Amino acid sequence: MKMENLTVSPIQKFSKTLPLPGDKSISHRAAMLGAIAKGKTEIRNFLVAEDCLHTVKAFQKMGVETSFQGKDQLTIKGRGLHGLKRPGGPIYLGNSGTSMRLLLGILAGQPFSATVTGDPSLSQRPMRRVVFPLEKMGAAIEGKGGEHFAPLTIRGGVLKGIRYHLPVPSAQVKSAILLAGLYAEGITSVIESSKTRDHTERMLQHFGKKLAVRGLTVSLKGNGELEGSRVAVPGDISSAAFFIVLASALEGSKLIVHNVGVNPTRIGFIRVLKRMGADITLIPKKESREKGEPEGDIEVRGRNLKGTTVLASEIPGLIDELPILMVAGACAKGKTQFQQASELRVKETDRIYSMVTNLRKMGVSIWNESDDVIIDGGKPFHGSTLQSYKDHRTAMSLAVAGRLAQKGKTLIRDVACIRTSFPDFINLI
Ligand code: S3P
Repeated sequence: MKMENLTVSPIQKFSKTLPLPGDKSISHRAAMLGAIAKGKTEIRNFLVAEDCLHTVKAFQKMGVETSFQGKDQLTIKGRGLHGLKRPGGPIYLGNSGTSMRLLLGILAGQPFSATVTGDPSLSQRPMRRVVFPLEKMGAAIEGKGGEHFAPLTIRGGVLKGIRYHLPVPSAQVKSAILLAGLYAEGITSVIESSKTRDHTERMLQHFGKKLAVRGLTVSLKGNGELEGSRVAVPGDISSAAFFIVLASALEGSKLIVHNVGVNPTRIGFIRVLKRMGADITLIPKKESREKGEPEGDIEVRGRNLKGTTVLASEIPGLIDELPILMVAGACAKGKTQFQQASELRVKETDRIYSMVTNLRKMGVSIWNESDDVIIDGGKPFHGSTLQSYKDHRTAMSLAVAGRLAQKGKTLIRDVACIRTSFPDFINLI
């Protein structure tokens, strides 16, 4: 296959209203719950990108009928909690960690065995973090390197509820356990040490499931069907983040984003950008019944940024925005530091390595001390030839960096990965 590259040149300023695709995390969850609910689910503004389409195909393989109306409205004929069919062969999930980890939770409750596989990146991502609690609940899982990596074969069975303290802050692990908990006898509780995105909890409630959320503990009782629903997916704040940083760092720019998800567990990066001096206004909207998620409009005006420290405790609330915040750090005067970002090492690529290596090539003074990333920003940097390492968020962050450079073209190699989450990004940038 021919490698796709992207070339961008520096710009001075811009003014734009950003059209935004549906949220990736929420689209995955809507499709999954729609498939195991009873009755019809209609999802508007579903993210039509490779990762979410892998989730849809996985359920098609298990007998779920789905159809698209128009560009991004997805209808799912739910088969109920116990209606999935044994898949005819391995379920391929591409690059999508969310598909694999959450699906394992659902497969844990099925009376058949199934194998999940992925691309080379997904096959190297840690799965032990979901395998361990699911085995404690009663599933049997075998993988490459014991139970650590995909391909994984899971034999579901009779599950029992557990009370589980998450050893790493991960919404994917929390969600896998809660989804398995739907099939388990008794109560399943997940206890977090810091709050991660709560889309699964919200979506479960949207499909009629009762949950108890007390502080950092989420509990649910197994069995009892979910009811098919109508879901309107808000715009993806993580995709908007690339353009929010671009506008924030270019004096005189103006950006407007309508109907974007502003769930408090996802907007940590806006708090950080404001601390850096960014001019960002969030105009909340009334939460509608079809959404179950807070939504709003965002207005950004460009001005000079200054450095800040991002504490370890803030990381779960901005995990996917760390690469683009490093680009903001490159533009901000003074020192910006990200503390203990070790989870970046196990994303689609090692994002500490990918961002430090590429931004250094552009002349940015950036380095890491173990899992901390430090930037001495606000100095001119230039275009260069860069590598995406097949990671969508690295590729898109570098494209923004190329736009923010003071001189020279930037060429980013291997950008097909952008289609996993934001197919229209290349046109928009
Ligand atoms: C996601 C959770 C996060 C995030 C990923 C999507 C989700 O992963 O990085 O892009 O939808 O639950 P972790 O749970 O591994 O932190």
